[in-house]
Amino acid sequence: MSTPAIRRHVFVALSCVAAGCSQGTPATVIVPVNPGLKDAYKDAFLIGTALNPRQFGGTDTMGIRLIDKHFNAATPENVMKPQPIHPQPGQYNWAPADAYVAFNEAHGITTIGHTLVWHSQTPAWFFTDSAGKPKTREAMLALMKDHIYTVVGRYKGRVKGWDVVNEALNEDGTMRQSPWFRTVGADFVIKAFQYAHEADPAAQLFYNDYNLATPAKRDGAVRLAKSIRDAGIPVAGINTQEHHKIDSPSITLIDSTFIAIRNAGFHANVTELDVDVLPRGAGPNTADVAARAQAVANGNPYTAGLPDSMQTKLAKRYEDLFRVYLKHADIIDRVTFWGTDDGSSWLNGFPVPGRTNHALLFDRKGNTKPAYDAVMALALKSSRSR
Ligand code: GLA
Repeated sequence: MSTPAIRRHVFVALSCVAAGCSQGTPATVIVPVNPGLKDAYKDAFLIGTALNPRQFGGTDTMGIRLIDKHFNAATPENVMKPQPIHPQPGQYNWAPADAYVAFNEAHGITTIGHTLVWHSQTPAWFFTDSAGKPKTREAMLALMKDHIYTVVGRYKGRVKGWDVVNEALNEDGTMRQSPWFRTVGADFVIKAFQYAHEADPAAQLFYNDYNLATPAKRDGAVRLAKSIRDAGIPVAGINTQEHHKIDSPSITLIDSTFIAIRNAGFHANVTELDVDVLPRGAGPNTADVAARAQAVANGNPYTAGLPDSMQTKLAKRYEDLFRVYLKHADIIDRVTFWGTDDGSSWLNGFPVPGRTNHALLFDRKGNTKPAYDAVMALALKSSRSR
């Protein structure tokens, strides 16, 4: 890996000396050492962020400044999910998703689609008929095919990769009892990949889930991906959401996820990275958006800002995570943060609404945090050691 902006600076400075630029070469040849995340990690993987309508709609100018400097990949936080994009039978809400794709193209950002088949943020009519009765397997497969063909078809050639199926697994690696699984059966995942592949044969297709550092769940994801591959449909990677906490799961477990994915012959993406710094209490260890936890005593301690001791802890956590990602850079193609700055993180509302979390590398004002410095320093160190 290398950090091109820095190398270029050193090169310019040396060639300046060689050319005697102190005697009259214009000062404009000096390139400032000010790379963004995407520059520092250019030779390792893409650096992505989840985008919301304030960003691709142009109103969040602070967010857009950060996006332009630091990110070269994007995932829509919500607007391509089944509920927002296909709220009623035959009725699609294209404007927000179109704006998202157009924003990425205007800003030179690789576009990811998220997500086609999920049990959550999906309208009830996907699963039940007009009388409220569960649909048949045939009806649900017909709807799945129509939905995927329509959405993937609209953005064919513009969306580079799709999270085809989201969160199909239980924590023990068995299939989640979702309406898709209950009605269609275990092959709903293969069907979804088949339809997506037919709709855009060039698109990269991913399986996406959380808590893949849990060995049983990780093994389930690998089994699922193999079953799709065995059915003859290309799987571009297993996507690990990486919603982590400040002290769990262990780095060893996170590392072992990528080892298992590698051993099965797949690539991976880190798709929803953030680090929750707030107390979770006794709530479930989950990134399931339906989960809600009771407010815990002293559960919102950092409303006035993150104290130095916690900034240091967060920086160490991010450095440890990126060390693992760099170790596996040959199979990790993208590391995407779930949000841009702390103010735009879903963790301010999950699993307890109305808290002040500090989960990302940029604070609410768009300033870099010590965690950012640690991640940037690691890139530099890693480029020097190669
Ligand atoms: C899951 C989903 C995402 C998003 C997050 C919370 O991880 O995959 O789309 O809903 O939950 O923002």
